[in-house]
Amino acid sequence: MVKEFENPFRPGAGHKPPYLAGRAEETEEFRRLLEQKVILENLVLTGLRGVGKTVLLDTLKPIAIREKWRWVGTDLSESSSISEERIVLRLLTDLSVLTASFVVGERERSNIGFGAPPTRDEIKLDFRTLRSIYASTPGLPSDKLKRVLEVVWSVLKQTTDRGLIFAYDEAQNLADHAAKDNYPLSLLLDVFQSIQKKDMPFMLILVGLPPLFPKLVEARTFAERMFRVVFLDSLTEPESRDAMLKPIENTHCPVRLDEQSIKLIVGASGGYPYFIQFICREVYDAFVQGQTSVPVAEIKRKLDTDFFAGRWARATDRQRELMMVIAQLDTSAAEFAVQEIAEKSKQMLDKPFSSSHINQMLVALSNSGLIYKNRHGRYSFAVPLLNQFIRRQISDEFETPPKHGGQP
Ligand SMILES: Nc1ncnc2c1ncn2[C@@H]1O[C@H](COP(=O)(O)OP(=O)(O)OP(=O)(O)O)[C@@H](O)[C@H]1O
Ligand SMILES: [Mg+2]
Repeated sequence: MVKEFENPFRPGAGHKPPYLAGRAEETEEFRRLLEQKVILENLVLTGLRGVGKTVLLDTLKPIAIREKWRWVGTDLSESSSISEERIVLRLLTDLSVLTASFVVGERERSNIGFGAPPTRDEIKLDFRTLRSIYASTPGLPSDKLKRVLEVVWSVLKQTTDRGLIFAYDEAQNLADHAAKDNYPLSLLLDVFQSIQKKDMPFMLILVGLPPLFPKLVEARTFAERMFRVVFLDSLTEPESRDAMLKPIENTHCPVRLDEQSIKLIVGASGGYPYFIQFICREVYDAFVQGQTSVPVAEIKRKLDTDFFAGRWARATDRQRELMMVIAQLDTSAAEFAVQEIAEKSKQMLDKPFSSSHINQMLVALSNSGLIYKNRHGRYSFAVPLLNQFIRRQISDEFETPPKHGGQP
Protein backbone atom coordinates (compact mmCIF):
# COMPACT_ATOMS: atom_id res chain seq x y z
CA MET A 1 0.00 0.00 0.00
CA VAL A 2 1.26 3.48 -0.87
CA LYS A 3 1.95 5.56 2.19
CA GLU A 4 -0.57 8.33 2.49
CA PHE A 5 0.76 11.57 1.03
CA GLU A 6 0.90 14.08 3.88
CA ASN A 7 0.21 17.76 3.74
CA PRO A 8 3.70 19.04 2.84
CA PHE A 9 3.27 22.74 3.68
CA ARG A 10 5.03 24.10 6.74
CA PRO A 11 3.93 27.48 8.04
CA GLY A 12 6.09 28.25 11.06
CA ALA A 13 9.14 30.10 12.28
CA GLY A 14 12.28 28.58 10.80
CA HIS A 15 10.50 25.46 9.52
CA LYS A 16 12.19 24.06 6.45
CA PRO A 17 9.80 24.53 3.52
CA PRO A 18 9.00 21.54 1.31
CA TYR A 19 10.61 23.49 -1.53
CA LEU A 20 12.73 26.60 -1.09
CA ALA A 21 11.65 28.84 -3.94
CA GLY A 22 13.74 31.65 -5.44
CA ARG A 23 16.68 33.09 -3.50
CA ALA A 24 19.17 32.29 -6.26
CA GLU A 25 20.56 35.83 -6.38
CA GLU A 26 20.96 36.01 -2.63
CA THR A 27 22.73 32.67 -2.56
CA GLU A 28 25.03 33.81 -5.37
CA GLU A 29 25.84 36.95 -3.42
CA PHE A 30 26.79 34.79 -0.46
CA ARG A 31 29.02 32.59 -2.61
CA ARG A 32 30.79 35.74 -3.72
CA LEU A 33 31.48 36.69 -0.11
CA LEU A 34 32.93 33.23 0.50
CA GLU A 35 35.58 33.92 -2.13
CA GLN A 36 37.12 36.73 -0.07
CA LYS A 37 40.62 36.03 1.19
CA VAL A 38 40.71 39.20 3.22
CA ILE A 39 37.28 39.92 4.63
CA LEU A 40 36.15 43.33 3.47
CA GLU A 41 32.45 42.55 3.51
CA ASN A 42 30.30 40.71 6.01
CA LEU A 43 26.66 39.83 5.48
CA VAL A 44 23.47 41.33 6.86
CA LEU A 45 20.44 39.29 5.85
CA THR A 46 17.32 41.24 6.59
CA GLY A 47 13.63 41.44 5.73
CA LEU A 48 10.14 41.50 7.18
CA ARG A 49 8.67 38.88 9.49
CA GLY A 50 8.23 35.49 7.87
CA VAL A 51 9.97 36.37 4.60
CA GLY A 52 12.36 33.42 4.94
CA LYS A 53 15.54 34.72 6.57
CA THR A 54 16.06 31.80 8.92
CA VAL A 55 15.46 29.08 6.35
CA LEU A 56 17.75 30.81 3.87
CA LEU A 57 20.46 31.03 6.51
CA ASP A 58 20.02 27.30 7.09
CA THR A 59 20.73 26.64 3.42
CA LEU A 60 23.83 28.86 3.40
CA LYS A 61 25.52 26.81 6.08
CA PRO A 62 26.12 23.62 4.02
CA ILE A 63 27.28 25.77 1.09
CA ALA A 64 29.90 27.41 3.28
CA ILE A 65 31.01 24.08 4.70
CA ARG A 66 31.40 22.62 1.21
CA GLU A 67 33.55 25.64 0.36
CA LYS A 68 35.78 24.77 3.32
CA TRP A 69 34.59 27.34 5.78
CA ARG A 70 33.87 26.53 9.39
CA TRP A 71 30.56 27.73 10.79
CA VAL A 72 29.44 28.58 14.33
CA GLY A 73 26.51 30.53 15.75
CA THR A 74 22.98 30.48 17.11
CA ASP A 75 20.00 32.74 17.73
CA LEU A 76 20.80 35.89 19.65
CA SER A 77 18.27 36.21 22.41
CA GLU A 78 17.83 39.53 24.13
CA SER A 79 19.54 38.19 27.22
CA SER A 80 22.68 37.17 25.36
CA SER A 81 23.14 40.72 24.09
CA ILE A 82 22.39 42.48 27.32
CA SER A 83 26.02 43.12 28.28
CA GLU A 84 29.56 42.88 26.98
CA GLU A 85 30.15 39.97 29.31
CA ARG A 86 27.14 38.10 27.91
CA ILE A 87 28.05 38.58 24.28
CA VAL A 88 31.60 37.43 25.02
CA LEU A 89 30.21 34.37 26.77
CA ARG A 90 28.01 33.70 23.73
CA LEU A 91 30.96 33.91 21.32
CA LEU A 92 33.27 31.78 23.46
CA THR A 93 30.57 29.16 23.92
CA ASP A 94 29.89 28.97 20.19
CA LEU A 95 33.59 28.92 19.36
CA SER A 96 34.36 26.19 21.85
CA VAL A 97 32.03 23.76 20.08
CA LEU A 98 34.33 24.02 17.09
CA THR A 99 37.69 24.33 18.80
CA ALA A 100 37.32 21.84 21.65
CA SER A 101 39.22 19.23 19.65
CA PHE A 102 42.10 21.57 18.69
CA VAL A 103 45.30 20.66 20.52
CA VAL A 104 47.40 23.69 21.41
CA GLY A 105 50.04 22.21 23.72
CA GLU A 106 50.80 19.74 26.44
CA ARG A 107 50.95 19.91 30.16
CA GLU A 108 52.81 17.57 32.46
CA ARG A 109 50.80 15.76 35.10
CA SER A 110 52.77 14.30 38.00
CA ASN A 111 51.56 10.92 39.06
CA ILE A 112 51.10 9.86 42.64
CA GLY A 113 53.32 6.99 43.64
CA PHE A 114 57.06 6.67 44.14
CA GLY A 115 59.03 6.72 40.96
CA ALA A 116 56.00 6.86 38.69
CA PRO A 117 56.91 8.92 35.61
CA PRO A 118 54.81 11.97 34.90
CA THR A 119 52.29 11.65 32.07
CA ARG A 120 51.58 14.33 29.52
CA ASP A 121 48.10 15.70 28.89
CA GLU A 122 47.11 17.53 25.76
CA ILE A 123 45.83 21.06 26.18
CA LYS A 124 42.77 21.55 24.05
CA LEU A 125 41.02 24.74 23.04
CA ASP A 126 37.89 23.86 24.95
CA PHE A 127 35.69 26.35 26.71
CA ARG A 128 37.88 26.41 29.83
CA THR A 129 41.01 27.17 27.85
CA LEU A 130 39.30 29.86 25.81
CA ARG A 131 37.99 31.41 29.00
CA SER A 132 41.38 31.38 30.64
CA ILE A 133 43.05 32.99 27.61
CA TYR A 134 40.35 35.63 27.76
CA ALA A 135 40.77 36.18 31.48
CA SER A 136 44.56 36.32 31.46
CA THR A 137 44.85 38.81 28.59
CA PRO A 138 45.26 42.37 29.87
CA GLY A 139 43.12 45.23 28.59
CA LEU A 140 39.55 45.85 27.59
CA PRO A 141 37.04 43.08 26.72
CA SER A 142 37.72 43.81 23.03
CA ASP A 143 41.49 43.22 23.49
CA LYS A 144 40.78 39.99 25.35
CA LEU A 145 38.36 38.71 22.75
CA LYS A 146 40.76 39.58 19.92
CA ARG A 147 43.46 37.59 21.66
CA VAL A 148 41.19 34.53 21.86
CA LEU A 149 40.40 34.82 18.17
CA GLU A 150 44.09 35.16 17.31
CA VAL A 151 44.84 31.94 19.15
CA VAL A 152 41.98 30.16 17.38
CA TRP A 153 43.25 31.41 14.03
CA SER A 154 46.81 30.29 14.81
CA VAL A 155 45.45 26.73 14.90
CA LEU A 156 42.89 27.03 12.14
CA LYS A 157 45.36 28.43 9.63
CA GLN A 158 47.33 25.20 9.76
CA THR A 159 44.33 23.33 8.38
CA THR A 160 42.88 23.46 4.88
CA ASP A 161 39.97 25.57 6.10
CA ARG A 162 39.53 28.96 4.50
CA GLY A 163 38.13 30.69 7.53
CA LEU A 164 35.40 30.80 10.09
CA ILE A 165 31.89 32.19 9.89
CA PHE A 166 29.97 33.47 12.91
CA ALA A 167 26.28 33.43 12.00
CA TYR A 168 23.72 35.03 14.31
CA ASP A 169 19.97 34.99 13.74
CA GLU A 170 17.57 37.38 15.51
CA ALA A 171 20.44 39.86 15.60
CA GLN A 172 18.03 42.81 15.83
CA ASN A 173 18.20 42.01 19.54
CA LEU A 174 21.74 43.37 19.67
CA ALA A 175 21.95 46.76 21.31
CA ASP A 176 24.27 49.05 23.20
CA HIS A 177 23.08 50.25 26.58
CA ALA A 178 24.55 53.71 27.13
CA ALA A 179 22.64 54.22 30.37
CA LYS A 180 24.33 51.17 31.84
CA ASP A 181 27.65 52.05 30.19
CA ASN A 182 27.58 48.71 28.41
CA TYR A 183 28.26 48.36 24.69
CA PRO A 184 27.96 44.74 23.51
CA LEU A 185 27.02 45.65 19.93
CA SER A 186 29.95 48.06 19.51
CA LEU A 187 32.23 45.46 21.05
CA LEU A 188 31.22 42.89 18.45
CA LEU A 189 31.73 45.33 15.57
CA ASP A 190 35.06 46.62 16.90
CA VAL A 191 36.47 43.16 17.36
CA PHE A 192 35.50 41.89 13.92
CA GLN A 193 36.68 45.03 12.19
CA SER A 194 40.01 44.81 13.96
CA ILE A 195 40.71 41.12 13.32
CA GLN A 196 39.64 41.46 9.69
CA LYS A 197 42.14 44.30 9.30
CA LYS A 198 44.78 41.90 10.46
CA ASP A 199 43.78 39.57 7.61
CA MET A 200 42.18 36.93 9.80
CA PRO A 201 39.31 35.40 7.82
CA PHE A 202 36.54 35.50 10.40
CA MET A 203 33.30 36.53 8.75
CA LEU A 204 30.17 37.78 10.45
CA ILE A 205 26.63 37.02 9.28
CA LEU A 206 23.90 38.89 11.08
CA VAL A 207 20.28 38.02 10.34
CA GLY A 208 17.30 39.99 11.57
CA LEU A 209 14.35 42.30 11.06
CA PRO A 210 14.77 45.59 9.17
CA PRO A 211 15.84 47.72 12.17
CA LEU A 212 19.02 45.61 12.32
CA PHE A 213 21.22 47.44 9.82
CA PRO A 214 20.32 50.99 10.95
CA LYS A 215 21.12 49.83 14.48
CA LEU A 216 24.58 48.62 13.43
CA VAL A 217 25.35 51.89 11.68
CA GLU A 218 24.10 53.88 14.64
CA ALA A 219 26.49 51.99 16.91
CA ARG A 220 29.51 52.29 14.59
CA THR A 221 29.45 54.34 11.40
CA PHE A 222 32.05 52.04 9.82
CA ALA A 223 29.39 49.28 9.89
CA GLU A 224 28.01 50.89 6.75
CA ARG A 225 31.08 49.78 4.82
CA MET A 226 31.61 46.57 6.71
CA PHE A 227 28.41 44.80 5.62
CA ARG A 228 26.82 43.76 2.37
CA VAL A 229 23.11 44.12 3.07
CA VAL A 230 20.85 41.56 1.44
CA PHE A 231 17.20 42.53 1.79
CA LEU A 232 14.94 39.53 1.31
CA ASP A 233 11.72 40.42 -0.41
CA SER A 234 8.51 38.58 -1.17
CA LEU A 235 8.73 35.96 -3.93
CA THR A 236 7.99 36.84 -7.55
CA GLU A 237 4.98 35.23 -9.22
CA PRO A 238 6.96 32.37 -10.84
CA GLU A 239 8.79 31.75 -7.56
CA SER A 240 5.50 31.73 -5.64
CA ARG A 241 4.18 29.17 -8.11
CA ASP A 242 7.24 27.00 -7.48
CA ALA A 243 6.70 27.27 -3.72
CA MET A 244 3.11 26.07 -4.17
CA LEU A 245 3.41 23.53 -6.95
CA LYS A 246 6.74 21.74 -6.50
CA PRO A 247 5.70 20.23 -3.16
CA ILE A 248 2.60 18.64 -4.71
CA GLU A 249 3.92 17.58 -8.13
CA ASN A 250 4.50 14.00 -6.93
CA THR A 251 2.10 11.64 -8.69
CA HIS A 252 0.91 10.22 -5.38
CA CYS A 253 -0.21 13.62 -4.17
CA PRO A 254 -4.01 13.68 -4.06
CA VAL A 255 -4.24 17.45 -4.50
CA ARG A 256 -3.92 19.40 -7.74
CA LEU A 257 -4.26 23.16 -8.06
CA ASP A 258 -5.89 24.65 -11.14
CA GLU A 259 -4.88 27.97 -12.65
CA GLN A 260 -7.64 29.86 -10.89
CA SER A 261 -6.65 28.51 -7.47
CA ILE A 262 -3.00 29.34 -8.10
CA LYS A 263 -3.85 32.92 -9.01
CA LEU A 264 -6.00 33.29 -5.91
CA ILE A 265 -3.25 32.02 -3.62
CA VAL A 266 -0.55 34.17 -5.23
CA GLY A 267 -2.81 37.19 -4.80
CA ALA A 268 -3.80 36.49 -1.21
CA SER A 269 -0.26 35.70 -0.09
CA GLY A 270 1.36 38.70 -1.75
CA GLY A 271 4.23 36.27 -2.47
CA TYR A 272 5.24 36.23 1.21
CA PRO A 273 6.64 32.79 2.01
CA TYR A 274 4.98 32.40 5.40
CA PHE A 275 1.58 33.25 3.90
CA ILE A 276 2.12 30.88 0.99
CA GLN A 277 2.84 28.03 3.40
CA PHE A 278 -0.10 28.98 5.59
CA ILE A 279 -2.63 29.31 2.79
CA CYS A 280 -1.44 26.22 0.91
CA ARG A 281 -1.65 24.15 4.08
CA GLU A 282 -5.28 25.20 4.54
CA VAL A 283 -6.12 24.71 0.87
CA TYR A 284 -4.55 21.27 0.88
CA ASP A 285 -6.62 20.18 3.88
CA ALA A 286 -9.77 21.63 2.34
CA PHE A 287 -9.19 19.90 -1.02
CA VAL A 288 -8.36 16.54 0.58
CA GLN A 289 -11.73 16.79 2.30
CA GLY A 290 -13.57 17.28 -0.95
CA GLN A 291 -13.72 21.02 -1.51
CA THR A 292 -13.02 22.03 -5.08
CA SER A 293 -12.43 25.76 -4.84
CA VAL A 294 -10.13 27.81 -2.62
CA PRO A 295 -12.10 29.10 0.37
CA VAL A 296 -10.36 32.49 0.23
CA ALA A 297 -12.55 34.39 2.66
CA GLU A 298 -12.33 31.64 5.30
CA ILE A 299 -8.58 31.31 4.96
CA LYS A 300 -8.10 35.05 5.23
CA ARG A 301 -10.21 35.07 8.35
CA LYS A 302 -8.10 32.28 9.83
CA LEU A 303 -4.92 34.12 8.93
CA ASP A 304 -6.30 37.27 10.52
CA THR A 305 -7.03 35.40 13.73
CA ASP A 306 -3.84 33.33 13.84
CA PHE A 307 -1.30 35.82 12.57
CA PHE A 308 -2.49 39.42 12.71
CA ALA A 309 -5.05 39.70 15.50
CA GLY A 310 -2.60 39.17 18.37
CA ARG A 311 -0.30 41.89 17.11
CA TRP A 312 -3.20 44.25 16.45
CA ALA A 313 -4.67 43.65 19.91
CA ARG A 314 -1.46 44.76 21.58
CA ALA A 315 -1.80 48.28 20.15
CA THR A 316 -3.77 50.96 22.01
CA ASP A 317 -7.01 52.42 20.59
CA ARG A 318 -5.26 55.59 19.51
CA GLN A 319 -2.40 53.64 17.89
CA ARG A 320 -4.91 51.58 15.97
CA GLU A 321 -6.62 54.74 14.81
CA LEU A 322 -3.28 56.06 13.56
CA MET A 323 -2.52 52.80 11.74
CA MET A 324 -5.97 52.92 10.13
CA VAL A 325 -5.08 56.34 8.74
CA ILE A 326 -1.73 54.99 7.48
CA ALA A 327 -3.41 51.99 5.84
CA GLN A 328 -5.50 54.41 3.76
CA LEU A 329 -2.40 55.97 2.21
CA ASP A 330 -1.71 54.83 -1.35
CA THR A 331 1.87 54.09 -0.29
CA SER A 332 0.96 52.08 2.82
CA ALA A 333 2.41 48.89 1.34
CA ALA A 334 5.78 50.56 0.83
CA GLU A 335 6.83 53.56 2.90
CA PHE A 336 5.33 56.70 4.31
CA ALA A 337 6.36 59.87 6.15
CA VAL A 338 4.94 61.87 9.04
CA GLN A 339 3.72 64.68 6.79
CA GLU A 340 1.67 62.33 4.61
CA ILE A 341 0.06 60.76 7.64
CA ALA A 342 -0.75 64.18 9.11
CA GLU A 343 -2.48 65.26 5.90
CA LYS A 344 -4.47 62.06 5.59
CA SER A 345 -5.55 62.27 9.20
CA LYS A 346 -6.92 65.79 8.55
CA GLN A 347 -9.06 64.42 5.74
CA MET A 348 -10.28 61.42 7.71
CA LEU A 349 -10.67 62.40 11.34
CA ASP A 350 -12.60 64.98 13.32
CA LYS A 351 -9.73 65.07 15.77
CA PRO A 352 -6.64 64.75 13.52
CA PHE A 353 -3.16 63.88 14.77
CA SER A 354 -0.53 66.61 14.98
CA SER A 355 2.87 65.92 13.41
CA SER A 356 4.63 65.79 16.74
CA HIS A 357 2.07 63.37 18.12
CA ILE A 358 2.49 61.17 15.03
CA ASN A 359 6.25 61.22 15.55
CA GLN A 360 5.90 60.08 19.14
CA MET A 361 3.45 57.37 18.25
CA LEU A 362 5.62 56.02 15.46
CA VAL A 363 8.44 55.62 17.95
CA ALA A 364 6.14 53.65 20.26
CA LEU A 365 4.90 51.52 17.35
CA SER A 366 8.50 50.86 16.30
CA ASN A 367 9.33 49.69 19.79
CA SER A 368 6.46 47.24 19.68
CA GLY A 369 7.62 45.91 16.28
CA LEU A 370 4.65 46.99 14.15
CA ILE A 371 6.46 49.72 12.23
CA TYR A 372 10.08 50.46 11.49
CA LYS A 373 12.04 53.47 10.40
CA ASN A 374 14.34 52.97 7.46
CA ARG A 375 17.68 54.66 6.92
CA HIS A 376 16.14 57.52 4.99
CA GLY A 377 13.92 58.47 7.90
CA ARG A 378 10.76 57.08 6.29
CA TYR A 379 8.54 54.44 7.87
CA SER A 380 7.07 51.10 6.80
CA PHE A 381 4.89 48.46 8.35
CA ALA A 382 7.16 45.82 9.88
CA VAL A 383 4.64 43.03 9.34
CA PRO A 384 3.92 41.99 5.75
CA LEU A 385 0.45 42.78 4.44
CA LEU A 386 -0.50 44.49 7.71
CA ASN A 387 -1.98 47.35 5.67
CA GLN A 388 -4.40 44.93 3.99
CA PHE A 389 -5.38 43.40 7.31
CA ILE A 390 -6.14 46.89 8.67
CA ARG A 391 -8.22 47.72 5.62
CA ARG A 392 -10.22 44.55 6.24
CA GLN A 393 -10.84 45.69 9.81
CA ILE A 394 -12.16 48.99 8.55
CA SER A 395 -14.47 47.41 5.98
CA ASP A 396 -15.67 44.83 8.54
CA GLU A 397 -16.68 47.70 10.79
CA PHE A 398 -18.77 49.22 8.02
CA GLU A 399 -20.22 45.91 6.93
CA THR A 400 -21.48 44.95 10.39
CA PRO A 401 -25.27 45.15 10.03
CA PRO A 402 -26.93 47.71 12.25
CA LYS A 403 -28.57 46.22 15.32
CA HIS A 404 -32.37 46.10 15.30
CA GLY A 405 -33.42 45.55 18.87
CA GLY A 406 -31.58 42.24 19.04
CA GLN A 407 -33.79 40.59 16.38
CA PRO A 408 -31.93 38.57 13.72
N1 LIG B 1 11.97 30.58 -0.29
C1 LIG B 1 10.95 29.98 0.32
N2 LIG B 1 10.11 29.16 -0.37
C2 LIG B 1 9.09 28.56 0.25
N3 LIG B 1 8.80 28.71 1.56
C3 LIG B 1 9.59 29.51 2.30
C4 LIG B 1 10.70 30.18 1.71
N4 LIG B 1 11.29 30.91 2.67
C5 LIG B 1 10.60 30.71 3.79
N5 LIG B 1 9.58 29.87 3.61
C6 LIG B 1 8.60 29.47 4.64
O1 LIG B 1 8.13 30.67 5.25
C7 LIG B 1 8.01 30.56 6.66
C8 LIG B 1 8.86 31.60 7.36
O2 LIG B 1 10.25 31.36 7.13
P1 LIG B 1 11.35 31.86 8.19
O3 LIG B 1 10.99 31.43 9.57
O4 LIG B 1 12.66 31.49 7.64
O5 LIG B 1 11.15 33.44 8.07
P2 LIG B 1 11.95 34.57 8.87
O6 LIG B 1 12.17 35.67 7.91
O7 LIG B 1 13.12 33.98 9.56
O8 LIG B 1 10.86 35.02 9.93
P3 LIG B 1 11.08 35.83 11.32
O9 LIG B 1 11.22 37.27 10.93
O10 LIG B 1 9.81 35.60 12.09
O11 LIG B 1 12.30 35.27 11.98
C9 LIG B 1 8.40 29.11 6.98
O12 LIG B 1 7.21 28.38 7.08
C10 LIG B 1 9.21 28.67 5.78
O13 LIG B 1 9.07 27.27 5.56
MG1 LIG C 1 13.68 33.88 11.54
